[in-house]
Amino acid sequence: MSSDISSNFLGPVKDSSSIRLDLHTWPEVDDYLQHCKGIILPLGSTEQHGPTGAIGTDALTAEAVAMEVGRRTGVLVAPTQSFGMAEHHLGFPGTMSLKPATLLALLHDLVLSLASHGFERVFVINGHGGNIATAKAAFMEAYSTVLNRKLPVASRFQCKLVNWFMAASVFTYAKELYGEREGQHATPSEIALTLHLEASLQSKQQPLPEPAPVGPIHGPEDFRLRYPDGRMGSDPFLAKAEHGSEILDKASTALTEDLSNFLKQS
Ligand code: NI
Repeated sequence: MSSDISSNFLGPVKDSSSIRLDLHTWPEVDDYLQHCKGIILPLGSTEQHGPTGAIGTDALTAEAVAMEVGRRTGVLVAPTQSFGMAEHHLGFPGTMSLKPATLLALLHDLVLSLASHGFERVFVINGHGGNIATAKAAFMEAYSTVLNRKLPVASRFQCKLVNWFMAASVFTYAKELYGEREGQHATPSEIALTLHLEASLQSKQQPLPEPAPVGPIHGPEDFRLRYPDGRMGSDPFLAKAEHGSEILDKASTALTEDLSNFLKQS
């Protein structure tokens, strides 16, 4: 019984291995649950990010922010769910998508697994806008299931989705750096973060014809016709690794505060 989750906030850690769920034993997780009922789940996507951006951009970025929030708080980080709802990007090779129904079932099952062991707060750090609607639907399904199964955590179980790229400080910084050329997909801010994380990606950067078009999102064939090189309104050539370092810090600061409040709230 944890009527006061806030008192179990763990504090910063130096060693990243101490916050990775996949590197712990089950008795260690059992012990962790005596002190903290929260866990971070990074959620990404494996999809085209324009002609110069990495396919794994949304997973790499979500994982990096999740690990940094984990280091700053001591809250466990689950393995990254690197596949998301990217049906509209299937016109581009390398994209691997889950249908909304598949992603819904997957997230439901994952958070339910955590609930069944006593986790009361699942903090999903998301890197892909296409996941948002489905993830929220999955949480609603999970709330019904924990009640129907009468799990001990039922009355306290909560999931929260946060999008690192929508943190106010990140949004403002991206506008300062890139203005309208931030765009909606394959944005310089997300590409900058990947350049900070993985130096080899720098060699793919090159000037691109601009402006990239903007418009609606429908199916994969329509997407490829409207956005031939995969970008939506963005100029990823503006991205720099040093921007990415700052973006990681701003996103982690904002989400650390979000997580702290989430663990405290009743
Ligand atoms: Ni993205």
